Amino acid sequence: MGTPQSMPLPAQPVAGGGSAKTSRGLVGVLTAFGVGAAVSIGLGVYGRLHKPTGVAVNLAGFSSPVAVKAWLATVAFLFALIQVASALVMYGKVPGVRAPTWIGFAHRWSGRLAVLVSVPVAVQCLYALGFQSFGVRGLVHSVLGCFLYGAFTAKMLILSRRDTPAWALPIAGGLVFAAFVGLWLTAGLWFFRTFGLTL
Ligand code: HEM
Repeated sequence: MGTPQSMPLPAQPVAGGGSAKTSRGLVGVLTAFGVGAAVSIGLGVYGRLHKPTGVAVNLAGFSSPVAVKAWLATVAFLFALIQVASALVMYGKVPGVRAPTWIGFAHRWSGRLAVLVSVPVAVQCLYALGFQSFGVRGLVHSVLGCFLYGAFTAKMLILSRRDTPAWALPIAGGLVFAAFVGLWLTAGLWFFRTFGLTL
């Protein structure tokens, strides 16, 4: 089952001069994850040093700013689910499912929208609440929040290269998805279990 033409997958190492290309690709991946780690640590340090303002923005129709965040986190999580499902179809991992021509488009845009929708929530979290270390849920959530943008940065850097090993993109994509799952479980699901499915 071929991959749809619209979605370029990382180039496979070629014979002859392969080792130089492979090591260049590996250096590229390590650099991408290094930059990603720097982004996550930078967000964490800001969240730690910045004095939480408690500023919260509510949107018309919602009962509270936290409800807005919980629903936006849920929308971001649903887009992340679409992205991982489309990746499985694209890589031919779903038996009997032929990858439609639009799958690359769906994969790219669901990923972009997941991150885009999460940004205003994360900005509010960082600016109003900061990086919290008291309470396991707050700590795990804060770490995952910072980790998400580092993993996303690494994925985008890996995507911009043609010489990265085939395992790099699925791992980076998997880390981004895992962060979205953890963020939703530690905040979105927590909100709905605590306050019900309120708007
Ligand atoms: C960028 C790093 C982030 C940090 C440091 C952070 C930190 C926090 C903290 C400390 C809370 C309060 C937890 C509590 O109730 O005790 C919180 C709440 C929340 N965060 Fe984040 N967050 C981040 C990113 C995100 C992202 C990316 C999302 C969603 C995609 C998100 C969704 C939420 C939601 C829905 C709540 C409200 C529910 C709750 O209070 O747990 N956060 N965040």
